[in-house]
Amino acid sequence: MSPLILALETSCDESAVALCDAGGHIPATAISSQIPDHQPYGGVVPELASRNHLLRIRPLIQQVLRDADVRLSDISAFAATSGPGLASSLLVGSTIAKSLALACGKPYLAVNHLEGHLLSPFLGKPGGIQPGIALIVSGGHTLLLHLRGPGDYEILGRTRDDAAGEAFDKVARMLGLPYPGGPEIDKLARSGNPAAFDFPRSMKSSGDYSFSFSGLKTSMFYLLPTLGDSAAGRLPDLCASFQEAVTDILVSKTLAAAKALGAQHISVSGGVSCNSRLRALFTERAAAARLTLHLAAPAHTTDNAAMIAFAALQRFKNQQFSSLDSDIDPNLSL
Ligand code: KG4
Ligand code: ZN
Repeated sequence: MSPLILALETSCDESAVALCDAGGHIPATAISSQIPDHQPYGGVVPELASRNHLLRIRPLIQQVLRDADVRLSDISAFAATSGPGLASSLLVGSTIAKSLALACGKPYLAVNHLEGHLLSPFLGKPGGIQPGIALIVSGGHTLLLHLRGPGDYEILGRTRDDAAGEAFDKVARMLGLPYPGGPEIDKLARSGNPAAFDFPRSMKSSGDYSFSFSGLKTSMFYLLPTLGDSAAGRLPDLCASFQEAVTDILVSKTLAAAKALGAQHISVSGGVSCNSRLRALFTERAAAARLTLHLAAPAHTTDNAAMIAFAALQRFKNQQFSSLDSDIDPNLSL
């Protein structure tokens, strides 16, 4: 039987389990989103998240094994996200994966959540992992990297303040939209005019690969009171204009890096890469620059276990197993 990895993702508010085979295919995956549980609080409540992971992860493991028609004894290695993320949530997944590894006498693989996102655009793709420029845009991170190969990454730049997803969530909150704000802004923006308001493109032409989104958030904060009662009616225009500024900065910087480093491939991952305008703009500008674009499949953009299983597979191939005594790291970097 071909090697089979079982991976758990519990770094934030999604409890997820997936299997990955030696070819990088995902025979089964299951996810339980906690978004409705945290929505009343306007953000993720750490203790609530870890308690929910504890309740949900075992049924999800059973579901995945059933769906793929395999037993625990068929699993070659157990993997879990070991950071970055919420400490109490990371502990649930990693402790369960280590316990299963110990009980089944199989290796344990600790996976960096960011590496999961980074490699997710190549999940299930026939060409495998392609070296090039990679953009990770999630709720907690905005990172531009030079991906040279599995395990060989150079960080070119990151955000100096808010992550792109954080900016979406904070602006959505200002506009009275529910958490998480990214998908809400995306939806409303479809019927809005992206040129209605001129939001700043902070650091777009700074000449380096750093990002900054807090100025954009501040512009929205000062703009809203000037609109008075008309603000509600202008929601689609506000969303479309804000989204245009964020996506323009992200796409411009990524393409500039590809040009400077002579890369042929660009890849985009993380929750914000689900954004319809970001996907359209990348598709348009990558084609114009004759670059090959790898977008994470929509189901693999927000947190999921398939990407953790796929990243674990790269380590499994090189027998890079983790110690059962290894700790989680809420601030783990790539
Ligand atoms: O990758 P992810 O699930 O979690 C982290 O690792 O942070 O990303 C979540 C982020 C949230 O900020 C959410 O608002 C954003 O991704 N997001 C979006 C969209 N879908 C999710 N942002 C913009 N447009 C979307 N369609
Ligand atoms: Zn994530």
